[in-house]
Amino acid sequence: MAILKIARMGHPILLARAEPIADPTDPEIARLAQDMIETMEDSNGTGLAAPQVHVGLRLVVFFVDPGRAEDDAGVPLTIMANPEIEPLGDEIELGWEACLSVPDLAGEVPRYKKIRYRFQDLDGKRHERIAEGFHARVVQHECDHLDGILYPMRIRDFSRFGYTSVLFPGLDAADD
Ligand code: NI
Repeated sequence: MAILKIARMGHPILLARAEPIADPTDPEIARLAQDMIETMEDSNGTGLAAPQVHVGLRLVVFFVDPGRAEDDAGVPLTIMANPEIEPLGDEIELGWEACLSVPDLAGEVPRYKKIRYRFQDLDGKRHERIAEGFHARVVQHECDHLDGILYPMRIRDFSRFGYTSVLFPGLDAADD
């Protein structure tokens, strides 16, 4: 186990499209996932994608705290290889996001309200889930990292972008 160095906005790895994982059961992938979990927990994040730790593979770890949003029951810690997202409906909602690769800042980002997503676990088993609200937002944010997209690139209203400590004084916000 190791805490990995997090790439910050401006590093080219964050703008590259990550490669599919040919064999999710490879022990090297399990080791990377464990290191990513440790890194995410050390940074008080709610999700982390492999490009954020300088690895160009389609691997994401995330969880959602129960009670984090009114429409979320919480999601246990999940490791996703090769995730894919399908929007369910056209409804878009705005919500605040932060990112471990964009430290100290937060912005209001449009995301699909409801999605279906599919991924492989590290036994190679395929999973499918439906997500709404903050859960759907976290999955969209993390999967964007696999396509070289950072949340500021999706902000429409830059008056809704700033320093977390100024926007939300007293709030200890988690980062994606
Ligand atoms: Ni992020």
